[in-house]
Amino acid sequence: MRNFLSVNQLNSKEIFSIIEAAERFRNKQLSIDKQVFAANLFFEPSTRTKMSFIVAQKKLGIEVLDFHSEASSVLKGETLYDTARTFESIGANVLVIRHGDDTWYDELIHGLQVPIINAGAGKGGHPTQCMLDLATIYQEYGYFNGLKVVIAGDIKHSRVARSNAQALKKLGANVYLSAAPGFDDPLLDFPYLSMDEAAEICDVVMLLRIQHERHEAIYRDSCYLETFGLTRDREKRMKDRAIILHPAPINRGIEIDTSLVECKRSRIFKQMENGVYVRMAIIMKLLHEWGIINDSIEKRNK
Ligand code: CP
Repeated sequence: MRNFLSVNQLNSKEIFSIIEAAERFRNKQLSIDKQVFAANLFFEPSTRTKMSFIVAQKKLGIEVLDFHSEASSVLKGETLYDTARTFESIGANVLVIRHGDDTWYDELIHGLQVPIINAGAGKGGHPTQCMLDLATIYQEYGYFNGLKVVIAGDIKHSRVARSNAQALKKLGANVYLSAAPGFDDPLLDFPYLSMDEAAEICDVVMLLRIQHERHEAIYRDSCYLETFGLTRDREKRMKDRAIILHPAPINRGIEIDTSLVECKRSRIFKQMENGVYVRMAIIMKLLHEWGIINDSIEKRNK
């Protein structure tokens, strides 16, 4: 694994290896004993992903080069490629990038000699979010095979839906989608359920935010919740062990009743906690693969 760009590049063994490494990071402090720099290049807004990468990097003893696109030479017309090459030239050992283009990394991977992590690519993919979602499901059930997972909401504009549907299928889960008219995606070949059906049969209900920034508003009011969202009534009909996930940020009262955000079934804030350890694991795997850190550091984490 030279870069971390898409869940499609991972086989099941590699996915489990990241989940297991993340679990070890939860339980053991590890700091890299040499100077390593990470640059977090976010061209779209972020709270969780950016901040949890920073926490992950600081926990590993990595020096963080922060970057604010709105106060950078991007405003003078500098391209993504030239920005990334600049950080490579000044000594960044790993680049974490979020950008609105679905495949922004295609123009970088051949020109750069530094590991790149995809922290969100337009509507294309969000592989570190997917890994933390998988870690959260695995923490709960200890397996994926045969689990019924519904991904519900604005599927069409969601990079999270794309990454999770593909990865969960690879791991043997039964993946379903649930979407309001206009939010379905014919390119994702999975069966659709109504929210009533999904709530009753699924082990994991993964809700998605309406991506208002990617399209003109179709639904904004509480009618959406009643027909397409997770209401209190639907939550009561969920299976005993079933859990609720959401990548956040949440549109409270739209895709989920606000009282359910922190209900007993909700793992939404647990997902965020898991994100730190998953990102530590991914960073360490890449630094090791590129020879930036050596075996002995990884072994100390065992
Ligand atoms: N889940 C997620 O990607 O959140 P942010 O946009 O806040 O990073």
